[in-house]
Amino acid sequence: LLGGIQVGVTRDLFIHLSQNKLLNTSAKRWGLKLGARSVVAGTTVKEMIKSVLDLNALGISCTVDNLGEFVYEKEEAIEAKTQILKVIEAIYEHDAKAHISLKPTQIGLDIDYDFCLTNLTEIVEAASKHNIFINVDMEDHAHLQQTFDLINTVKQKYNNIGTVIQAYLFRAEDDIKDFKESRLRIVKGAYKESEKVAFQNKKEIDQNYLHLIEYHLLHGRFTSIATHNHHVINHVKQFVKENNIAMDKFEFQMLYGFRKDMQLQLAKEGYNFCTYVPFGSDWYGYFMRRLAERPQNLNLVANQVFNK
Ligand code: FDA
Repeated sequence: LLGGIQVGVTRDLFIHLSQNKLLNTSAKRWGLKLGARSVVAGTTVKEMIKSVLDLNALGISCTVDNLGEFVYEKEEAIEAKTQILKVIEAIYEHDAKAHISLKPTQIGLDIDYDFCLTNLTEIVEAASKHNIFINVDMEDHAHLQQTFDLINTVKQKYNNIGTVIQAYLFRAEDDIKDFKESRLRIVKGAYKESEKVAFQNKKEIDQNYLHLIEYHLLHGRFTSIATHNHHVINHVKQFVKENNIAMDKFEFQMLYGFRKDMQLQLAKEGYNFCTYVPFGSDWYGYFMRRLAERPQNLNLVANQVFNK
């Protein structure tokens, strides 16, 4: 019990730190610090593309995230959009096996909905010319409905867009049905949400997670199973076998720098595998959420601080 309380406290602390605006802003000037280097693929497009091509050579595709979120200035949102357009061009020029992940708050959702919609449409249109898929990451529950609205609007014209379903939310079951024609990433959920909207109990979240994955594998277009949990991965392997689900209907996804051996092993076994590759100077919030999920990730900090 005490261990459980301690993990809960640590999770809350890191989530709190991830949302600290001053630290988020200051960290942009620090360069990759605190061990972030092992889970963030550099700060420039050049460094990122190198990592992507290295992973492609191992049979692994990538989804690239130009890090950034909770942007409140139009200039900053336009800068982020311009950088994402550069990433699309770089993927095309290098013929990399990769697509894009982005966060709506990075391209202006907290500034103005229509401004964000214009930015997103421009990105999706540019990507569609090169047949590149855009995944809209799901942030906290406060942004969820607007994120779905953005996607539904853009989907009317383009089909290279999909999103994420978070299993900790009560409404996930309804949402997955609404989005069954879309390519979806299914995750447990990384933010702290109230008991009014989300399961708090790990067992309930895990059960709902498997249930949603199975639903989309059976009824959906394409499923990205994004987890580092080997129990879930083994369950899915068995489920796809028993239900004759074709290999090209799903992929496993993990974050850059985590469980590298398992990533490679799954690709070697012939599963589609996609690594989520974050890069850029706005790494702080992302890194704090990784520490919140798994306090053992603090090892990354210790290793890098002491092996400097
Ligand atoms: P979890 O943390 O539940 O771990 C389960 C078990 O797996 C552990 O007990 C341990 O046994 C093992 N394990 C996990 N990590 C390990 C490691 N590094 N080494 C050894 N063993 C390990 N969230 C969100 O809200 N919106 C989003 O858009 C996304 N997007 C996203 C993309 C991708 C590619 C991933 C992998 C994750 C996300 N997430 C996300 C985050 C997600 O919601 C969730 O918080 C994390 O994936 C943590 O949950 P897991 O299921 O991975 O493992």
